[in-house]
Amino acid sequence: MRDKPSRTALKVAYNILSLSTKPGADAFLPAGIGDATARLLVSSGAASERMIRVCRSRWLLRLYERLDRVMPGQFVGFGQRKAFCEREVRRAIADGATQVLVLGAGYDTLCWRLAPEFPDVRFFEIDHPATAAVKARGIAAMGRPDNLQLIAEDLAQRALEDVLKGTSSWDRDAITVAVAEGLLMYLPEPAVRELFTQLAGYGGPGTRLAFTHVGTRDDGRPDAGPRSRLTLWSLELMGEPWRWSLRPERLDDFLSELGWRRVPAPEGAPTGGGIEHFAIAQRGRPAARVETGVASSSP
Ligand SMILES: C[S@@+](CC[C@H](N)C(=O)[O-])C[C@H]1O[C@@H](n2cnc3c(N)ncnc32)[C@H](O)[C@@H]1O
Repeated sequence: MRDKPSRTALKVAYNILSLSTKPGADAFLPAGIGDATARLLVSSGAASERMIRVCRSRWLLRLYERLDRVMPGQFVGFGQRKAFCEREVRRAIADGATQVLVLGAGYDTLCWRLAPEFPDVRFFEIDHPATAAVKARGIAAMGRPDNLQLIAEDLAQRALEDVLKGTSSWDRDAITVAVAEGLLMYLPEPAVRELFTQLAGYGGPGTRLAFTHVGTRDDGRPDAGPRSRLTLWSLELMGEPWRWSLRPERLDDFLSELGWRRVPAPEGAPTGGGIEHFAIAQRGRPAARVETGVASSSP
């Protein structure tokens, strides 16, 4: 990844702004996400007021809807994945989580919006230093809640364990909900495995991870939609190549190898959007199958 603020993070933020003007989108988008994103982009200097107006114009909405042919469903999918992550974070807090850790946060506003609502929960964000610096400027201008901490680190270079060890308010025993939204495809496989392995060491059995991932094509490369090769090539040109993908049918084995088990999504909730798959994992290996077909439980 180049040492420049992430362009894909900006793309997601523009997408969310435009989607928030689409009739009916407020039925599933998290409340207040459009306004908070606009404020963050302007106060961080990532976008001008004029650009915000463009993002909220009808013609940009039409353009995005046309461009959706490149990654079918992804325009609405970005909003669905925001809704998925927020629902899972709220669900985990209701179930006892006292720490929220958002990895590769970009211009996401979940922590900033939820921190005042849950003053007893500690919120942490980690992003690559080039993007984290811009985000920190914006959050400072908007007012950083005391229970929100922004951490600048390259997760492809430095192990999560080391990053969190140096964060004084991080409590490794607290029940935690971690979010990796639109991040894992940018990390090399060893870094992804390391991340899951280390997260599995935190916070007791209640600790959860909500994440999104892309599938793998028959040629072994990430599946970026019907124009996959062109899309992957353009991501390389942007300096943000996709490096990791996983066939959805391999997910259970992958999680189990790394100390996690999949948690079923609530009934009726989308399990993907556009070209991405959404998943929730909880610490602990899945119940082992025994010959009788009766499952035995493991911690
Ligand atoms: C597509 S953006 C998604 C941003 C945000 N999660 C969202 O969905 O709005 C990918 C994010 O991952 C971050 N990222 C990519 N590689 C990273 C790395 N090696 N270490 C930390 N963050 C990284 C980028 O800086 C960027 O903010």
